[in-house]
Amino acid sequence: MLGVELASLVERASTEISAASDLETLAEVERTFVGKKGELVALKKTLGGLEPEERKAAGQALNEAMGQVAGQVNERRSVLAASAEAAQLAGERLDLTEVMSDMQRGHAHLVTQARDRLEDVFVGMGFTVAEGPEVESAWYNFEALNIPEWHPARGSFDTIFVELGEPEQVMLRSHTSPVQIRTMETEKPPIYIVAPGRTFRTDTADATHLPAFNQIEGLVVDRGVGLGDLAGTIESFVGAFFGHEVKTRLRPSYFPFTEPSAEFDISTPDGGWLELGGCGVVHPNVLANCGIDPEEFQGFAFGFGIDRLAVMRYQLDDIRELVNNDVRFLRQF
Ligand code: PHE
Repeated sequence: MLGVELASLVERASTEISAASDLETLAEVERTFVGKKGELVALKKTLGGLEPEERKAAGQALNEAMGQVAGQVNERRSVLAASAEAAQLAGERLDLTEVMSDMQRGHAHLVTQARDRLEDVFVGMGFTVAEGPEVESAWYNFEALNIPEWHPARGSFDTIFVELGEPEQVMLRSHTSPVQIRTMETEKPPIYIVAPGRTFRTDTADATHLPAFNQIEGLVVDRGVGLGDLAGTIESFVGAFFGHEVKTRLRPSYFPFTEPSAEFDISTPDGGWLELGGCGVVHPNVLANCGIDPEEFQGFAFGFGIDRLAVMRYQLDDIRELVNNDVRFLRQF
């Protein structure tokens, strides 16, 4: 009698277990059959009226049935838990590609691209990247660079002054060379830095000038470095940036902060030369101004316009395109 009842109960339980489609329903089914007040436990209570031998066999059968049902519940629970988790993950997933497909994706401005590539090239050559402020005192922009107040070279920088009054003369930096001074004041040689950044001059914007432009400065201070290292450094970076078919040359020039000084040019496919920037061996006065002994250390420096470089690289006819913010132009690069 008990055997028959038990078998049908287990069968019912197993049908309901497999039919349970979520964890709550399954818990309900579990309670109905194997819970404290469940049907199997209720059946256990009827055992008291049986003969000892019979009771033992029936008890065993009941325990087996309980174990069987509990096992099925556990199995079903792990299946349901796994699919509940999968459903939750699917629900929380953010499909970002769906959003992007409807939008125009932007990219870095071509001057930023040129600047990033220059940094990469120099970092690859062992330089680190330094920065300085865009507003400078006369000491950093001029004096420490061996350009005293009376020096005619001050005039050639077309400086934009900031009228802050006494005690200091303050200006927008007219080149990135002040970062040379700031670096030498705070770091001990050997120094191998490049310093990209914005620079400002009173120039009126035309096809080849912008009043706010970008330069990158290079400075090396070490023992026994000279003009040959400067020429080699320029050749390496130009090769890495423009390709190794592009040649470089130095032409004598003058800067108060380098001696000797030169202008450096790169070759063009039609056999001509384009001026890229200025360079030279760091003037001993400049080293001394920063507390570096010129007898022990030598250096070289160079500086050139990043915007001009972008103009050359992309063969633009007008540098003003870089700041016109015309997306039809910018999108091409
Ligand atoms: N600062 C100079 C300029 O703006 C370029 C330069 C840098 C020259 C370093 C020599 C050494 O024209």
